[in-house]
Amino acid sequence: MPYGTFGAAQYKIGAGALDCLAELKGERVGLVVDKGIMQALGLEARIAELLKDAEAYEYLCSIPGEPTRELLEGPIKACQAFEPTWIVAIGGGATMDSAKVLWLFYELPHYTWEQACQLFAVDPFPGKCKMIAVATTSGTGSETTCCAMADKSAENYAMILAPQVRPNYAVLDYDLLKSLPKSVIAFSGMDALSHAIGASTINWANELTRTVAIAAATATIESLVDSYNGDQGARQRMAVAATLAGQAIDNSNCGLAHSVDQPGGEMRVPHGLCQAIAMPYVMELSKPQPEYVRLAHQVGCFGTDEEAVDALIEKIRQMMRDMNVPLCYKDAGLDEAAYMSRVPRWIEETLANPSLDSHGYKATREDLEKLYRDLYYGA
Ligand SMILES: [Fe+2]
Repeated sequence: MPYGTFGAAQYKIGAGALDCLAELKGERVGLVVDKGIMQALGLEARIAELLKDAEAYEYLCSIPGEPTRELLEGPIKACQAFEPTWIVAIGGGATMDSAKVLWLFYELPHYTWEQACQLFAVDPFPGKCKMIAVATTSGTGSETTCCAMADKSAENYAMILAPQVRPNYAVLDYDLLKSLPKSVIAFSGMDALSHAIGASTINWANELTRTVAIAAATATIESLVDSYNGDQGARQRMAVAATLAGQAIDNSNCGLAHSVDQPGGEMRVPHGLCQAIAMPYVMELSKPQPEYVRLAHQVGCFGTDEEAVDALIEKIRQMMRDMNVPLCYKDAGLDEAAYMSRVPRWIEETLANPSLDSHGYKATREDLEKLYRDLYYGA
């Protein structure tokens, strides 16, 4: 590849950045929100004030938890009927991903789900509307990515990967992050760390992507536990770190830890917890990657390459202990028989995942047999 590219949303960043919605004068604004977060932050009245000069605004979608194709059908129709000129998502990854799905089926209403899920093969949008993603957690990076997880269920799995659905604007308003629950901070932060570390090792990532990924991982390791403990400055740094990690995966790929995350969808484990549990074991399996060594040095882990990376892995495990994050699925309370009965299929799925070739280390069947065992029992 003679040269690479690097895409990202434009940012509105800082305390009060949500006020940028007041710029949507005369526009038709379709809102996709997490109702729980809207209530917790008391945002409905503020949104009404900010959009008072819009031509019209309408709440199109508020899905509690993860979206599915079925749950999205009604909101897709509502969006097509409302004809927004802007879609505004306010929430975490699931909310922002849902908004991207609405956007796609509004721009391309004749599309089937199968067409929507063709990776990087979606037709150009006619340009009926634009999207603003207001992130209320710091982890998924969805505010800047062109990925939307539309349905995680095994039967109806649907993931959209299309540059057309990368939000035009990402809003990082620090005021919205002040009252995040601790478990959300821990899990979403570990997801961001997995994005950053995984993206840094992707064999076709360019140097800009790798540098962004290492910066994101460094900032996460330095700030996440303090953010968990209530340090608002650290929480702002985590917002930046998580979105940089989102840029990193958006311009390369997620790492192996994301290819062994089946317990998340199937056994209802939060995605960030899956990532936290998987990351240290994946690093042990694939070490020493040059980018692991580079990151280790950034966060004060030195010695031989092997020693530095081992110290880095231990540092990550200590972060998990400091935030009461279980180190393995057994400690997370997953049923042993239910987990083990699924492992043979998960191994086949992981081996069939086209992403496997992009990781700095290509896991073998034997590696995966040991990895899934370790993820359950701990090493
Ligand atoms: Fe993730």
